[in-house]
Amino acid sequence: MRRWPEDRLAFGGDYNPEQWPRETWTEDVDLMARAGVSFVTLGVFSWSWLEPAKGEYEFGWLDDVMDRMADADIAVDLATGTATPPPWFSHAYPQSLPVDHDGHTLWPGSRQAWCPTAAPYREHALALTTQLATRYHDHPALALWHVSNEYACHNIPCYCDTCAGAFRVWLRERYERLDRLNDAWGTAFWSQRYTDWAQVLPPRRTTTFANPTHQLDYSRFQSDALLVFFLAEKAVLTRLSPDVPVTTNFMTMTRFRHLDYHQWAPHQDVVSTDHYVVDSLTHPRAELAFSADLTRGLAGGDPWMLMEHSTSAVNWQPVNRAKAPGQTIRDSLAHVARGADTIGFFQWRQSQAGSEKFHSALVPHAGPDSARFREVCRLGEIARRLGEVRGSRVESRVALLWDYQAAWAVGGPAMPSARLDYAFVAETVHRLLRARGVTVDVVHPSAPLDAYGLVVVPTLYLVTDVDAAHLADAAESGAQVLVTFFSGIADQDDHVRLGGYPGAFRDLLGIRVEELFPLSSDETARLGSGGEATLWTEDLTATTATVLDRYASGPLTGRPAVTRHDVGAGSAWYLSTMPDDASLDAVLGDLLDAAGVLPVLPGLPVGVEAVRRRSPDSSWLFLANDTEESHEVDIAGHDLVTARDVDRLHLAPGEVAVVRER
Ligand code: GAL
Ligand code: ZN
Repeated sequence: MRRWPEDRLAFGGDYNPEQWPRETWTEDVDLMARAGVSFVTLGVFSWSWLEPAKGEYEFGWLDDVMDRMADADIAVDLATGTATPPPWFSHAYPQSLPVDHDGHTLWPGSRQAWCPTAAPYREHALALTTQLATRYHDHPALALWHVSNEYACHNIPCYCDTCAGAFRVWLRERYERLDRLNDAWGTAFWSQRYTDWAQVLPPRRTTTFANPTHQLDYSRFQSDALLVFFLAEKAVLTRLSPDVPVTTNFMTMTRFRHLDYHQWAPHQDVVSTDHYVVDSLTHPRAELAFSADLTRGLAGGDPWMLMEHSTSAVNWQPVNRAKAPGQTIRDSLAHVARGADTIGFFQWRQSQAGSEKFHSALVPHAGPDSARFREVCRLGEIARRLGEVRGSRVESRVALLWDYQAAWAVGGPAMPSARLDYAFVAETVHRLLRARGVTVDVVHPSAPLDAYGLVVVPTLYLVTDVDAAHLADAAESGAQVLVTFFSGIADQDDHVRLGGYPGAFRDLLGIRVEELFPLSSDETARLGSGGEATLWTEDLTATTATVLDRYASGPLTGRPAVTRHDVGAGSAWYLSTMPDDASLDAVLGDLLDAAGVLPVLPGLPVGVEAVRRRSPDSSWLFLANDTEESHEVDIAGHDLVTARDVDRLHLAPGEVAVVRER
């Protein structure tokens, strides 16, 4: 085995040599050296090549590739290959195929067509993992194990009969007695009372709104079921290859919410994730930053790996445009700024055939004589120079709470408004803080909060008593806390906390809400401060809080809209609506002032981003010009992107710098 590159930021990506003849492998190694590739992820979709028939393994080709990587001094992140079973497997074990909400089987023909509780899948996956671990545990190229790939990308929720049985087992562990399940699920409603475990099914398509707690538990169960599979593979690796760290690549894009990554992250030796820029979003760069800040939160603030992103276009949007010149570097460094110590891509060489032939790669269809490959080579050089930032941590005094279980619950059926998406307020606040030059840690509600001057609690619809008390403690001990509408409403069983909203935070906030008035898409509410609000309003009474702003139009005219409640050494602020950007930004400005949180680099032009990473004896400022104009920034130090000392930095549109500060 070998160590993950330590003198540079590891740079590389998924390498799928089985798509190419051997002559190409020779060229690959030469081009990898030219590009400065220092790691590859091998074998992610190689099962049908490694085990062409049940129990018959062919490792010769992989031995060859592993040896080539060792000779070229390229570290291998070796996949267990279990992401997609071969056709012979699906043919022999059709009961392992996933089944959708409507009872339709998802057939093989693409990838990940396996059910998260299928015993034959598990057995065969563990057999392959055992073979690989036995064969390669001491190979000189092996530096990391990559279990499966992007768990849950396509195969959950599965509603098959096997999952039904496994769900009952999971429920018996959680509730022990059926009457506890009946209480948790509120089955007194609509005659849903269960009298035997056998009556409990997955929440398959039904006549109208399904039981929300039933659905919530199913999401928890499916995430746990896949985690059990991950842990089973990991156990094999830890037994046979104890010296090599293990990871599986997450998908921390804000719209992917099938797994509760806060349950998964503690089981990773290093947290790794994949991120793709979705052009169709209104604020794609803000989404990238959010996702990276969330990944850092999952890693507990430690450096993490960007396992995959794209050098240029993806091919899974309706329209897929190439990235602008320089954007490969800029996107990569945006992740590094926020704590990534590895820059990975899907994939090394753009496929000639198959479903991803129009997805970009490090070596494009045009070949190495291309602007994109030259940019890739430049990124490789930068990654080498950036070695000194490895292990440093991102500075932040603002936390934003994110909880997959709250997301599941608030996305449940029959809510006050179908217009509310879990991520919306979180992303808006994060975007505005980022525009103010403030770095945000996105963390779970149970994370330690003492390092933060400001804690933002967006749409935390579901919260446990323990986490609610933890937040109140943070305010008591001096934090400014901002809670936004439709938070603290329900407990972990999705039972509404009675006595007035927002039950869990009523005392902390010094308010009481009797009724909710969500707005339709053509409605707005004016605010006394002059702004305009959308999406949501609430009939709020300030019991002990101070009113900061009021509604100035509509049915709630004169009622409080924004409040502040001083508690202990801190304050708890409440936002009962969604103000326009300028009004929300003004509130955030007041919060930052109260918290004493300054921008990373005060005085920067709007649209120039600055994030600082710090080690015990150095600090680096990551700057990115996300505007259409050139900007000058007063900063003295050494820029690792251009390898030049600077006193004053000139940043062209889209340009980035990493300045080691003096
Ligand atoms: C990821 C996946 C890769 C590739 C990539 C394309 O979801 O892990 O195998 O499909 O997306 O963007
Ligand atoms: Zn299933």
